[in-house]
Amino acid sequence: MTEQLGQLVEDARERLLQVSCDRDMEQARIDFLGRKGMLSVMSGKMKGLSPEERPVFGKALNRTKMAVEGLFEEAASRLAGVSGGLVGAEAVDLTLPGRKFPVGSKHPVTRIIDESVAIFRRMGFTVADGPEIETVYNNFDALNTPADHPSRDPMDTFYFSDGRLLRTQTSPVQIRVMKSVEPPIRIVAPGRCFRRDTPDATHSMNFHQIEGLYIDRGVSMADLKGVLLAYAHELFGPDVSIRLRPHFFPFTEPSVEYDFSCIMCGGEGCPVCKNSGWLEIAGAGMVDPAVLEEVGLEPEIWSGYAFGMGIERIAMIRYRISDIRLLYENDLRFLEQF
Ligand code: DAH
Repeated sequence: MTEQLGQLVEDARERLLQVSCDRDMEQARIDFLGRKGMLSVMSGKMKGLSPEERPVFGKALNRTKMAVEGLFEEAASRLAGVSGGLVGAEAVDLTLPGRKFPVGSKHPVTRIIDESVAIFRRMGFTVADGPEIETVYNNFDALNTPADHPSRDPMDTFYFSDGRLLRTQTSPVQIRVMKSVEPPIRIVAPGRCFRRDTPDATHSMNFHQIEGLYIDRGVSMADLKGVLLAYAHELFGPDVSIRLRPHFFPFTEPSVEYDFSCIMCGGEGCPVCKNSGWLEIAGAGMVDPAVLEEVGLEPEIWSGYAFGMGIERIAMIRYRISDIRLLYENDLRFLEQF
């Protein structure tokens, strides 16, 4: 009989090892500890024993009961660990592989803006901001743009009926800053611009620029070149070289266009650089004395440089994107790659 009790404990141990949910557990409890369970059956055998045997068997029975209850407690806490402590329908099976939640990522345009701003901050620039709806004065007049300049044409620029416009460049931020802060000034202004272009692989009606402006005493073209070279190196590594080509902008004199040596072919010539070995990145130049005068800065005392980069252009080069429209279609299959 004592042997049977020992077997009962072993049976309980084995049974509980196979228990994997609360329902199994409950059934096992009924089978072993329930009113008609095995322990109950065993204690029923007490009746058939002699008065001398009874206390001995009673003790053994008690020990067995305690052992079995101990096993149930152990099994219960193991089960609670697996189900996160929840029971029934709420139980969570922590052994299942996790479910992945989609995490967003930064848009390539935002990445280039953030990276560029970080580079210019390290060189001592701060960030300035201006509105996307601008006055004709800030966007054109104060930037020394002649009244008959083609960029003013309503075919190229979005005008509001009140005469204001969607800024065509970030350059008006220059005017706002120079009118509100005393030099020395050293700012970059990233932002959205708008032009009435027909969309194609390289044109969008809506695009981004980063404007840069430095005004101080004795600023020279060499300072401009140094900053532009440092930017190129920070962005694309030390092997990139730059080239400044004479150009014309109404608000700078002299004006240049700023190119990177092609990062695809290293200057050998390839489809990306249309075999020229160079990639156009920005316009730049020394701030025209007429602009300084317009904002009340004495050209005899103050001088400075300015530049304006196309962000999409840089993003397309960096991420090998062949069509600017991909940046605005919000196709997740495209955006998830970044
Ligand atoms: N605003 C010019 C454009 O959109 C780019 C530019 C050229 C900005 C020369 C400048 C600059 O600050 O100095 O084409």
